[in-house]
Amino acid sequence: MIAPLPALLSGSVPVIEVASLTKRFGKFTAVDGVSFSVRRGEIFGFLGPNGAGKSTTIRMLCGLLGSTAGTARVGGFDINREPEQVRQQLGYMSQKFSLYKDLTAAENLTFYGGMYGLDGARLAERIAAATQLTGLGGVDKQFAGTLSGALQQRLALACAILHEPPILFLDEPTSGVDPIARRMFWALIHELSGRGVTVLVTTHFMDEAEFCGRIGFINAGKLIALDAPAALKRGAVAEDLFELEPEVLHGAAENLATLEGVTATAYFGTRLHLFCRPGVFTAATLAAAVATRGVNLRTIAPVAPTLEDAFVRLAQKKT
Ligand SMILES: Nc1ncnc2c1ncn2[C@@H]1O[C@H](COP(=O)(O)OP(=O)(O)OP(=O)(O)O)[C@@H](O)[C@H]1O
Ligand SMILES: [Mg+2]
Repeated sequence: MIAPLPALLSGSVPVIEVASLTKRFGKFTAVDGVSFSVRRGEIFGFLGPNGAGKSTTIRMLCGLLGSTAGTARVGGFDINREPEQVRQQLGYMSQKFSLYKDLTAAENLTFYGGMYGLDGARLAERIAAATQLTGLGGVDKQFAGTLSGALQQRLALACAILHEPPILFLDEPTSGVDPIARRMFWALIHELSGRGVTVLVTTHFMDEAEFCGRIGFINAGKLIALDAPAALKRGAVAEDLFELEPEVLHGAAENLATLEGVTATAYFGTRLHLFCRPGVFTAATLAAAVATRGVNLRTIAPVAPTLEDAFVRLAQKKT
């Protein structure tokens, strides 16, 4: 493999540097002038609604899709001019784990290792290491298509890290995987990050987004927020937030959205979150206002915004 540039090992130089990256499909702009950078060993989360442009950005950063405008350097190489070198620097788990379902786990590992130029003793050594790290032992003779979702996920990760890439792109790696397996997977991500691997990961799970050092939020192709999770929550939700438990949930969000002083509403499990202009309401005055709409409440309380609240507010922003 191509050795990472010495400067990249210092931690001071961004490993991923994205500058005004743009992708148009015909007249449609899927990624619109996105710029950010990621440091060595960082876990960078990419959040945004369906169709926001996350996967398209990742495919460009992997050198699999040319950009229409702007560019990026990944591991010191230009994605458009040096896509081969870029691909050598990274491991990629695509949104649909790209395993060969009719090959066994071991055959998948051998195939991907071969693609990365590994063979002989080195390939065997790397397969053993990746198998051990991902806890895949014992399933090597099983067809990939018959493995559980969690094992397919771990096999896909093992394939992606065979060549010890310094950069990992993980596109919704935990979708369809149970909560325990998700936690185990994140323990692995932290372990790799601790070893200096730079990770860019997309997820729709807010608990996972909390594990990221920084989060970029993309909406309609534009990067509209970029910060650590705590700061992102503060920045995205400028209003006062109240959590209400109505006796009848159905229709309550739509009904209360038009109350004077309420800027947005969102269902939150069996509860409702009301975003209100700062300083307009206390819990008592809001309860009184809600009562005028015929909505009976079990509980009402001011709450701190969660990452899900931040997601909802950012997704509602006009770009
Ligand atoms: N090859 C293509 N041709 C035309 N449009 C495309 C192509 N690839 C993606 N798109 C469109 O670009 C937009 C962004 O898609 P993308 O897959 O990047 O979104 P995403 O943020 O990854 O969404 P999700 O969370 O659902 O995975 C979507 O509207 C999608 O339909
Ligand atoms: Mg996607």
